[in-house]
Amino acid sequence: MSPKVLVTGAAGQIGSELVVALRKRYGYKNVVATDKAVTRAQVSAGVLEQLDVMHLPSVERAIKAHKVDMIYHLAAILSAAGEANPDLAWDVNMDGLKNILDASTRHGVRRIFWPSSIGVFGPDARKLRAPQMTPLNPTTIYGVTKVAGELLSSYYSLKHGLDVRSVRFPGLISSEAKPGGGTTDYAVEIFYSALQTGRYTCFLRKDTVLPMMYMPDALRGAMEIMEADEETVKLHTGYNLAAMSFSAGELASEIMKHIPGFKATYSPDSRQAIADSWPKSIDDSAARRDWGWKEEYDMASMVTDMLARLRQRLRAGEKAFNHRQAFTSRAA
Ligand code: NAD
Ligand code: SER
Repeated sequence: MSPKVLVTGAAGQIGSELVVALRKRYGYKNVVATDKAVTRAQVSAGVLEQLDVMHLPSVERAIKAHKVDMIYHLAAILSAAGEANPDLAWDVNMDGLKNILDASTRHGVRRIFWPSSIGVFGPDARKLRAPQMTPLNPTTIYGVTKVAGELLSSYYSLKHGLDVRSVRFPGLISSEAKPGGGTTDYAVEIFYSALQTGRYTCFLRKDTVLPMMYMPDALRGAMEIMEADEETVKLHTGYNLAAMSFSAGELASEIMKHIPGFKATYSPDSRQAIADSWPKSIDDSAARRDWGWKEEYDMASMVTDMLARLRQRLRAGEKAFNHRQAFTSRAA
């Protein structure tokens, strides 16, 4: 029988595409998409319900009402937005996670996916192939909440037998919904600017290298770890997950192969310090060994696919091209 799945933060960059993929896999009625920020149209179309993860009684009510047995908990404040409002980042990322864990323990949810991030690493981590097991000393509030969240998840797994599964996602590049306040957002913005204006001013230095992943791989990774046999998932903190690493300049050069007149300039802002505190690449051999992780996209194939998808939407005269899109359907 299909599991009953609840997704929080479903209107965000990951959720907008993950909900479509989950509904394709488990059936439309078996996937309840929720977010704090919902429009009336989304609610009346039945694609999204309003749920603030900071409000424990509402979380409990939703789990009971929908008889949920699996949760993808995506509601969060990302790295750059977190530095702008550290109190909010702490409250949403920590209280929100604890509410999900407590409500799940009480109401029989059997498995939770909660994404961690390369934000767990700090400046003292190895820059190349940062190991799975290494001191985690992040210098952002986002990273602090991800390290604490990993430990909290592992604690609930040990003490309450809750099956919490997590990966440390790199920066995610996607063609459907725009990113929501991260340091790696430039790697999505650059495509929109390249196609719309032929120019882009990047908020990171040209030589800034970060670990990245294309959304189709991220969605597959999240669903694969959730469907992996229990004995293969040995870590209940967060698995390093990798796909590609490139500098901002290298990404611009790859785009130039498709858009010859494209010009990128660089004007680093406060996000540069966050990027500089993270590794350039991470070692994900534990995920590959334990549950068979393998990426499909490298930088060249990701750029080709991104441009094709965004061009198609532009040609279709998509009015809301500049806005975040919810529930458009890569996987439908
Ligand atoms: P996003 O910012 O695009 O979306 C987050 C969603 O959470 C938004 O729709 C927002 O409305 C919602 N939200 C915020 N506060 C809420 C609350 N109190 N209750 C309910 N919903 C609330 O983020 P995303 O990129 O989709 O990221 C999802 C998860 O994946 C986060 O935990 C993030 O840290 C992690 N992650 C993302 C990336 C990435 O590059 N996108 C990389 C690593 C990890
Ligand atoms: N893409 C995310 C960010 O930049 C990494 O977790 O915040």
